[in-house]
Amino acid sequence: MKHYTLTIVGTGYIGLVTGACFALMGHTVVCHDVDRAKISGLQKGKMPFYEPGLRTLVRGMVGKRRLRFTTDLEDAVQQSQVVFFTVGTPSRKDGSVDLRYVRQAAQDLAGYVRPGMIIVSKSTVPVGTSLLIRRILERGGAKKFAIVSNPEFLREAVAIDSFIHADRVVIGYEEHTPSRVRRIMNAVYSGLHVPIIETNNRSAELIKYAANVYLAGQISFINSIARLCEEIGADVEEIATALKADRRIGPRAFLQAGIGYGGLCFPKDIRALIKISKKMGYHFKYLDVVEEVNKDQRKIFVEKLRRMLGTLKGKHITLFGLSFKPNTDDMREAPSLDIIRLLLKAGAHVAVTDPKAIPYARRILGKSVTYISQPARAVVGADAIGIVTEWSDYRRLPWSTLIKKMKSPHILDGRNMLNPRTMASYGYLYEAMGRK
Ligand code: UGA
Repeated sequence: MKHYTLTIVGTGYIGLVTGACFALMGHTVVCHDVDRAKISGLQKGKMPFYEPGLRTLVRGMVGKRRLRFTTDLEDAVQQSQVVFFTVGTPSRKDGSVDLRYVRQAAQDLAGYVRPGMIIVSKSTVPVGTSLLIRRILERGGAKKFAIVSNPEFLREAVAIDSFIHADRVVIGYEEHTPSRVRRIMNAVYSGLHVPIIETNNRSAELIKYAANVYLAGQISFINSIARLCEEIGADVEEIATALKADRRIGPRAFLQAGIGYGGLCFPKDIRALIKISKKMGYHFKYLDVVEEVNKDQRKIFVEKLRRMLGTLKGKHITLFGLSFKPNTDDMREAPSLDIIRLLLKAGAHVAVTDPKAIPYARRILGKSVTYISQPARAVVGADAIGIVTEWSDYRRLPWSTLIKKMKSPHILDGRNMLNPRTMASYGYLYEAMGRK
């Protein structure tokens, strides 16, 4: 396998994981960011966020001199044939994509582009952004470079594994891209031994949105079935198991019912695709429903708690889990935030516990809730426990003794992670989302 020197522009979640994994594959990687504090932390081995296995990988690759960090863009691209853009593409208030960091990175890079250089757009960006990058670079004097669109599909909390064992790599090229560019891109990824899907850059940009909204759609679908299950007396978990056994659906389908999806990607990408479609004159009605069903799940969770307790006013609710999914401290667009807001509005006292996300939560929620790191202490005097994130630690808690510390034995399992019969056998008044 041929090894290259690669540059990562934008050392956020995707950038750092991608850089570290490329280094693991044998490439030499320079990660750039304009945030001096972040880069100096990384130079000292300090990770800007929690991701299982990442610190060890980054430190290992730095030790092997295959990975380094800099705020000097000229230095970062000096030896590179391939430059990956992994800058953030946040949502604007109206849901459209804010491309200011992409524009800025392209303007900053323009003066350093050498003939033959390959600029790869890896951030999730609206269709046509590759062309925008090309125009900005050309305006800045860059010549004879190639633009490639190469969306990333890795998942937080399993980021390294989902990069290394990707289902596919999608690479989109402009018309008339020289074959040398394709050869280099294929060689960069050859160490992964995964299928490479070549397409044009517009399709590549849309594939990323299509994948994310498809998966989010599965979640809203199963949550709608869960709603129906409650009316009918059916069990959504048994239904999901039967659906996954259909090979056209598959065992890894996103059919875990609960309080819905959060995180940086699904909510943002759905809003973006709604906007992108609208701009193109197409009303993508399906996405409106996916989004609405997802928002409803949080309200339903709070409503179920209200029904369980008669009222929420003055009740002590302990929430288990704050992060948008387990094994991360990320709380961006986490369902917990909406749930906490609704509970506080209804006059409840909220205590929260989470293995990783409490420091993150403090920055957002301040003193509005009580933070207790040990679940066993967090349940003391609680009228109800609400499970919001399915941390595996929660399965192993001494549930049979925890019940004695509660004021009343209510549990609402918003992620369907515990066994209803076992919980009932301990004496809990257990409810879940769409279960018998
Ligand atoms: C998602 C995609 O899965 C990645 O392929 C993509 O690269 C990434 O977005 C991105 O665009 O960067 P991620 O947001 O890290 O990855 O997390 P997921 O594991 O997909 O979970 C997203 C949310 O859906 C979580 O809140 C999770 O709890 C929820 N979820 C997931 C369900 O409610 N049910 C499921 O069956 C699966």
